[in-house]
Amino acid sequence: MKGKSVYIETFGCQMNVADTERAVTLLRAAGYELTKQDDTADVVIFNTCSVRARAEQKVFNRIGEVRHKRCGKEPLIAVTGCVAQLKGEALFAQTPAISVVAGTRATDRLPDLIERALNGEQKLLDIDERRKGEVWDVSPVERHSPYVAFVPIIEGCNKFCSYCIVPFSRGREQSRPPQEVITEVRRLREEGFREVHLIGQNVNSYRPPPETELEGFAGATPFSRLLRAVAATGMERVKFTTSFPRDFHPDIVRAIDEFDNLCNWVHLPVQSGCDRILRAMRRGYKVADYLACVESIKSARRMIALTSDIIVGYPGETSDEFAETILLVQQCQYDGLYIFKYSERSGTPAANFPNDVSDIEKTKRFMALESVQRNIQRKVYNGYVGRKLSVLVEKGSTRHAGQLTGHSKCNKVINFTGSLDFVGETVEVCILEAKENSLYGKIIDSRVDPSSSHR
Ligand code: SAH
Ligand code: SF4
Ligand code: F3S
Repeated sequence: MKGKSVYIETFGCQMNVADTERAVTLLRAAGYELTKQDDTADVVIFNTCSVRARAEQKVFNRIGEVRHKRCGKEPLIAVTGCVAQLKGEALFAQTPAISVVAGTRATDRLPDLIERALNGEQKLLDIDERRKGEVWDVSPVERHSPYVAFVPIIEGCNKFCSYCIVPFSRGREQSRPPQEVITEVRRLREEGFREVHLIGQNVNSYRPPPETELEGFAGATPFSRLLRAVAATGMERVKFTTSFPRDFHPDIVRAIDEFDNLCNWVHLPVQSGCDRILRAMRRGYKVADYLACVESIKSARRMIALTSDIIVGYPGETSDEFAETILLVQQCQYDGLYIFKYSERSGTPAANFPNDVSDIEKTKRFMALESVQRNIQRKVYNGYVGRKLSVLVEKGSTRHAGQLTGHSKCNKVINFTGSLDFVGETVEVCILEAKENSLYGKIIDSRVDPSSSHR
């Protein structure tokens, strides 16, 4: 609709970021103007997350804030993403200011829904499936970065871990045909992107229909074949997330060994270090299986950075069981760890068990684990001092003039001093200092062959 302005805010994971990029591409093509001003926009869209109670609550707080700011001149409010998919029609009753509810598979119908709502239709709901032949194009200008692009390869999740809402909000696994992924990565390369992240809730279970499988690429699993095919496009850097321990095949490590542009970082969430809890969580692996994955990752030719997620205070988790998690974290020596306090999600199997670890105890466990990880990370990060890392310079620092920031292939945040002309380039940086969550260094050569860096 000509001339109407749209403000969109994204919560949650990279999948939501990718959906927002597609939604914005379509909205702009339909004649909308995108704005960063939530206080003047004609349409306000919240692309929501439901993974924990706090994430879900955010959308309601933000709707309240935006309406409060507007002093009477109400925008059209649309809720998309996981909360929309899960709550559906109930959202209209809960928050009457909402005009459009569009689920996780309704992205390409969003411009139409918004237009109908602007034309006066009320309470529009679309939590249906994707349309056949839906186009996944994203305009380069709508990507979250001009250098790094998210490429969804699989949506949804079939795992049904007992605590997790994602299989309900995102539906069953659906893999994009590999040819489509390769075409997108090739186009991104032509457009000047230097790094792609292949994304999905569980990328290791990537399984396109057999007739769409790529010929000519070796690999023990469809995912490791896809990795090799994406690497062969010549894209400068390829990262992928999230991996799942039960589906993590050592052939992924072999592929990383073979291709320097497959980055040396694996995010492999473990969730708990106790077999009984893992079984209760329905994760489908034991601690020993997880450690075997870690072993294969640590035996790679290049050093692969390993990161993980952990939930503390799962129903029935005793302090001894939590101690097993601490032990596992010490064994794994993670480069980074995301710790979450268990949050009951209604509709998940775990919601049938009493959420019996008190919030105070969860906080205690959270802090204990955080402190263990802080010490590990200090050691891991200090190990980088004196090394050279290839860094994709993403932007100037917002806090310090003259400071640039970017990521290494091992996914560390690297800060160093340099001219803004380096933004968008890959440079070689010698690491001089390690802080808690980032490394500081000095640029040593800006004209390096990116494939020559081994870290
Ligand atoms: N697909 C990924 C991540 C999904 S959500 C995986 O399987 O690992 C990201 C993280 O949120 C999870 O790894 C888990 O640690 C956390 N999480 C998911 N549900 C949660 C819940 N109900 N309470 C607390 N943390 C949760
Ligand atoms: Fe959730 Fe488990 Fe699927 Fe990850 S693998 S999205 S934790 S159900
Ligand atoms: Fe959140 Fe949905 Fe992603 S619940 S983590 S936005 S899949």
